[in-house]
Amino acid sequence: MENNIENPMQKVQSHDWNQERLEQLKQLMPDLFTNDGKLNINELKQIVDPKSLNETERYEFRWFGKSNAKREAFTPTDATLVFDEERSLNPEHSENLIIEGENLQVLKLLSKSYREQIKCIYIDPPYNTGKDFVYSDNFDQDKKEYWEDAEMVENGLKIDTNMESDGRYHSNWLNMMYSRLLLARQLLREDGVIFISLDDNEIHHLRKLCDETFGESNFIGQLIWTGGRKNDSKFISTSHEYILVYCKNFDVLKSEVKEWRIRKKGLDEIYNTYNKLKFKYKSEIQSIEKELKEWFKGLPNSHPSKAHKHYSCVDENGIFFPDNISWPGGGGPKYDVLHPKTKKPVSIPSRGWLFSDETKMESLIKENKVHFGPDENSVPCLKSYLKDREFQVPYSVFYQDGRASTKRLRALFGDDFFEHPKDEIVLKELFEFSTTNDDIILDFFGGSGTTGQAILELNKEDNGNRKFILVQIPEITDINSKAYKAGFKKISDITGKSGHSDHVIPV
Ligand SMILES: C[S@@+](CC[C@H](N)C(=O)[O-])C[C@H]1O[C@@H](n2cnc3c(N)ncnc32)[C@H](O)[C@@H]1O
Repeated sequence: MENNIENPMQKVQSHDWNQERLEQLKQLMPDLFTNDGKLNINELKQIVDPKSLNETERYEFRWFGKSNAKREAFTPTDATLVFDEERSLNPEHSENLIIEGENLQVLKLLSKSYREQIKCIYIDPPYNTGKDFVYSDNFDQDKKEYWEDAEMVENGLKIDTNMESDGRYHSNWLNMMYSRLLLARQLLREDGVIFISLDDNEIHHLRKLCDETFGESNFIGQLIWTGGRKNDSKFISTSHEYILVYCKNFDVLKSEVKEWRIRKKGLDEIYNTYNKLKFKYKSEIQSIEKELKEWFKGLPNSHPSKAHKHYSCVDENGIFFPDNISWPGGGGPKYDVLHPKTKKPVSIPSRGWLFSDETKMESLIKENKVHFGPDENSVPCLKSYLKDREFQVPYSVFYQDGRASTKRLRALFGDDFFEHPKDEIVLKELFEFSTTNDDIILDFFGGSGTTGQAILELNKEDNGNRKFILVQIPEITDINSKAYKAGFKKISDITGKSGHSDHVIPV
């Protein structure tokens, strides 16, 4: 008999309150803990007395300027946001924002009214290729803040390139990212997530930086986006980049959101073909099935529908694939199942039937969900319908042609005004599985406004009401560029004019 009475002699351990309090502190401020989970007392001291610095050796991620970058993140700004009526479209109806300004300052401003309000952040920061500019935060408090100089903002900002020859090349980039990520975390809801695009130049640093900023346990995945081959290397032709995914609080995400699902690609083409065949052959199931198989066979391997070629059987309920009906691992139940035509017991799978309950098998046969061979000599299969299997967990590796988005943006503007825009189809998918109806999505490296476009398209598709906030610095475009000649003097002019802007607020 089970004994539920506690043995009074048994040593009962009391709850470890200190551990619990440390866990709570870690949840609240993961940046105070080292990568291996220990409280960094010096970091804690710095909050109380910012001048105190007492370094000891331990496992941690350090670079030049790190403490300054953190201090800068939490130093208040006296900048304000000003509504720009002239450049705003539809302000009464739209709650989308495009903010022209330097993102560190804007993030500080947003943290007043959007703290823990943002469901999803997507950013595509400078990759630190040695050619792109990295805004260098000036910690000198005496410096006149650039946005106070109205003329400067009007004409755009000239920002220097972070050259590889600079001794603080990585540190510059890390400092820029660190302060912004610390603020970004504050804006995220407890069930919020952040996606960060990057390539091999800094991904190894970013992963460590995010472990520190968001906490190692809040790492969700590192997506690999393959986008076609580049023949610009003598050794390895890199044909991919990354999207790093972290959440604010994995426990909350697990309990509130439960799972991420994405619709498989290439399904609509299969349904279209099937519908055409149904129209052509009416109830001649075998002819539909035969031609559907031929259609799959004729598809190139790169076609998204090809991955579903096993869904090539058809009955009056739709398209299905004959799935295994045997007990996983073996040792399953073995009972007689009669063939519907010959009325003789069919071959039993060597591992036994999938259903231990015979009545379950009977009802599936009645519902026409079991696929029998021509006679009792073959093992039947379970019909697995495409319409019931349309969604899957997103994969960590995916393909999307890297050049296609440039072509589409060219079509939108009539020319090449922005180099390397991200693909709105990919972003739409990220937002599809990570956000719902009224969520707010933030992109503080706005560029040509792809995030805005992706949100508008997704809302259109699923009747959603998501809102976006884009931030773009008024970086001047090259005087010889097509964008400049067409009147886009600043990148923020492109963000606002790319057809996605509903509401523009310059800083
Ligand atoms: C790689 S692009 C983003 C492209 C964008 N995802 C798209 O699809 O068009 C990075 C953008 O961030 C902007 N940027 C860089 N530093 C910034 C800062 N400190 N504040 C605001 N924007 C910044 C750059 O001007 C550039 O337009």
